Amino acid sequence: MKVLVVGSGGREHALAWKLAQSDALAELHAAPGNPGIAALAHCHPIRMNDVEGLLGLCREHELDLVVIGPEAPLVAGVADHLRRAGVTVFGPGAAAARIEGSKSFAKEIMEAAGVPTAAELAAVRAPCVVKADGLAAGKGVFVCRTQAEADAAWEQARALGDSVVVEELLEGEEVSLFALTDGVDTIPLAPAQDFKRLLDGDEGPNTGGMGSYSPTPFLRPDEIDELVETVHRPVLAELAARGTPFIGLLYAGLMLTGDGPRVLEFNCRFGDPETQAILPRLEGDFLGALAGAAGGALGGVELSAGPEAAVSVVLAAAGYPDAPQAGVQIRGIEDAEAGGALVFHAGTAVRDGRLVSAGGRVLNVIGLGGSVAEAREHAYAAVERIDFPGAQFRRDVALRAVRVPG
Ligand code: AMP
Ligand code: GLY
Repeated sequence: MKVLVVGSGGREHALAWKLAQSDALAELHAAPGNPGIAALAHCHPIRMNDVEGLLGLCREHELDLVVIGPEAPLVAGVADHLRRAGVTVFGPGAAAARIEGSKSFAKEIMEAAGVPTAAELAAVRAPCVVKADGLAAGKGVFVCRTQAEADAAWEQARALGDSVVVEELLEGEEVSLFALTDGVDTIPLAPAQDFKRLLDGDEGPNTGGMGSYSPTPFLRPDEIDELVETVHRPVLAELAARGTPFIGLLYAGLMLTGDGPRVLEFNCRFGDPETQAILPRLEGDFLGALAGAAGGALGGVELSAGPEAAVSVVLAAAGYPDAPQAGVQIRGIEDAEAGGALVFHAGTAVRDGRLVSAGGRVLNVIGLGGSVAEAREHAYAAVERIDFPGAQFRRDVALRAVRVPG
């Protein structure tokens, strides 16, 4: 098969890395890709929202499958355009991608499908969570413990758009649970935890995610199937019943509360950086699963998670998230890889033959091991081998999981 991966982040590097291991892969292309992906795929300087450019690639290289990584092109309807032109696409059309693109639409679907979520509040009264309705790259959600925070959040959310959702503040462990789907059949992937705040101890501003690990001790294997049954399947059935079936990966962000699991959000694509910890553990025919989902034939495909754990630590540029410093030279990735780690590029570029930072989150460093504790040690040992002046990273990724008894 000839496959195109759309996107340029660490998630897309992980997708490309996993696809490249498939015997059925004939050619791998990326648009636009990044320097890490370039070692595995032909990278084309085409932006991820450029439908004509992507269609041109599909025709020129006779591509069999397009895998769209980020939410922006999905919400903008890029998958619809490609499908109408006869391309097989992994990723939902705009109507189903609204599950991520609009918080109020997600609430409406959950209510119709009977999926447990945070209750909506009629007034902006702390404690609460205030959410701008549309896509805001993680910057549209405000967790408010005081009334002053809630009032300020209301103003900020309103400034991002007219529609604002206010809901109860839930407490518990947060987990990310993904299911691949062709619109009818589903395959759950191993659960992961994501570290959204910039600083240790969940302090500092929200970011795109500073690390992840899988599996998590906070969900037992039998609970995974139960969650997919109570969360993913009803939502997929509701979307299908509305004539807008979801094809691709449905991401549920869950809070495991004392009263049971509650959905915090849905995303219409692989999570970043969870994917960087999930895919290294994945066993089975990944390309077959993506092609099966895209082609309406997921039934019969088997995927499982291997026994190893994976911990992924993000190295972010100095100044991230406000003003990440670009152009800082990075060395030592080969040393980290020689020690057994995986390094996925996110915000890198090659300038004058040197690898430099070119974004906020720059690298994902993944350690593998027989337990989360061992994987964690390997990840941080690999981080030490990378020379990236000014890099910011959390030192407590997966630390709580290591401390969970047996
Ligand atoms: P979202 O984009 O909706 O996932 O929100 C971003 C982050 O805000 C989540 O990952 C949670 O950490 C937090 N969050 C969202 N909704 C709630 C809620 N109802 N209660 C507590 N935390 C929340
Ligand atoms: N890891 C959070 C996200 O992908 O939205």
